[in-house]
Amino acid sequence: MSSSAVEQLQNLLKDTPSDENERRDIYGAAVKLMYQVETPQDTQQRLYHGTGIDLNLFKFLDENKGNAFSQKELADITGAEPALLYRLLRFYAAHGMINQVDQDTYGASNITHNLALPGTAAGIKHYSLTMTPAYQAIPKYLAKNSYKNPTDSTKTPFNMAYNTELPVFKWREQNPENYKVGQAFMAAQRIGQRSVWDGLVPLDDFKMKQEDIDNDRVMLCDVGGGSGHQCVEFRKYQPDMKGRIVTEDLFSVQNLAKNREELNKLNIEMVPHNFMQEQPVQGAKVYYLRNVIHNWNDEPSKVILGSVAKAVAADSVVIVDDVVMPQVGASWKQSSMDLAMMTMLAAVERTENHFAQLLQESGLKLRNVVTYDKDYGDSFIIAVPADAS
Ligand SMILES: C[S@@+](CC[C@H](N)C(=O)[O-])C[C@H]1O[C@@H](n2cnc3c(N)ncnc32)[C@H](O)[C@@H]1O
Repeated sequence: MSSSAVEQLQNLLKDTPSDENERRDIYGAAVKLMYQVETPQDTQQRLYHGTGIDLNLFKFLDENKGNAFSQKELADITGAEPALLYRLLRFYAAHGMINQVDQDTYGASNITHNLALPGTAAGIKHYSLTMTPAYQAIPKYLAKNSYKNPTDSTKTPFNMAYNTELPVFKWREQNPENYKVGQAFMAAQRIGQRSVWDGLVPLDDFKMKQEDIDNDRVMLCDVGGGSGHQCVEFRKYQPDMKGRIVTEDLFSVQNLAKNREELNKLNIEMVPHNFMQEQPVQGAKVYYLRNVIHNWNDEPSKVILGSVAKAVAADSVVIVDDVVMPQVGASWKQSSMDLAMMTMLAAVERTENHFAQLLQESGLKLRNVVTYDKDYGDSFIIAVPADAS
């Protein structure tokens, strides 16, 4: 590469784009460039860990952005021994996680801010606490299973790593620390994304006739909705849309929800429901399943969608909110998510064609796909009853 190309890249560093499309394109191109020139040793070393989170180091530096702190000051603040902290600071600076301002002073970088966000901290903890042992089991698991695609959610690399036959959602119920960290991660997974209810979702599909409202028809049924956080957001973003809102999940999950008061205030009903069984809410205007279907392989997914298909009315729509994988050029984020699904749940991220087939085999029909996040390919996969015109 010529020195002028290096200069051009360095000039880019001085002027980070504020336009989201430009930012994404530059990020994608920079990552490709980095991979292109990376040596095997670089690859081996490009790792990070969460001690700076446990020490509240990133949070402190981020809250005091623009200021620089000596090693001694940071040792006093974090409680870490200076000799250890010195090595950590050097490592974090080398990986861009903080800035080394001078020989003995450190400050926040863009990545410090990312690491200081509670959702990122929960994500890193979730990966190190729950996911990493499962990832480490992948080679042994695949060799033992003759390199076959995992399809049984009780026989996954996760099951091998934790020596359990319980599927991960059941296992988590018995492992409260993993559950707590996992839920915090799920709730904050898409930090920085615009709310899907903020005009990104096709709101016309939610609109009901006055007689539907008078007859107490359910407008939104969030299937596998966890503690109902998406329903809460819906009410907040669309307070003028009249109609009942129901969030469903397993009793054991809803039982742990700490937001009952908020749900009551916003008139959101919590209904315990195992989505492998008959749907208790019949004829809702919209059935919504976010990050649910990608947790399951095709056969159980057909059971979940099939019970929704039996409950729909002629004008209902079913919105599956999941990643849609491109046929060509899946990004590292998308393909990582796919392997995470395989490792923990014997599940899969799907292409549009795969969704169309799955919906058809479940008694529904794909109407259209709206992709609202280009990084992950998060999309509304919108289906209607199979016999809808
Ligand atoms: C990845 S989380 C998604 C939660 C929520 N929809 C969201 O987008 O944040 C999957 C959800 O499926 C729920 N779930 C798993 N098995 C279930 C079952 N058999 N019946 C109902 N819900 C279930 C889990 O408890 C969890 O809340």
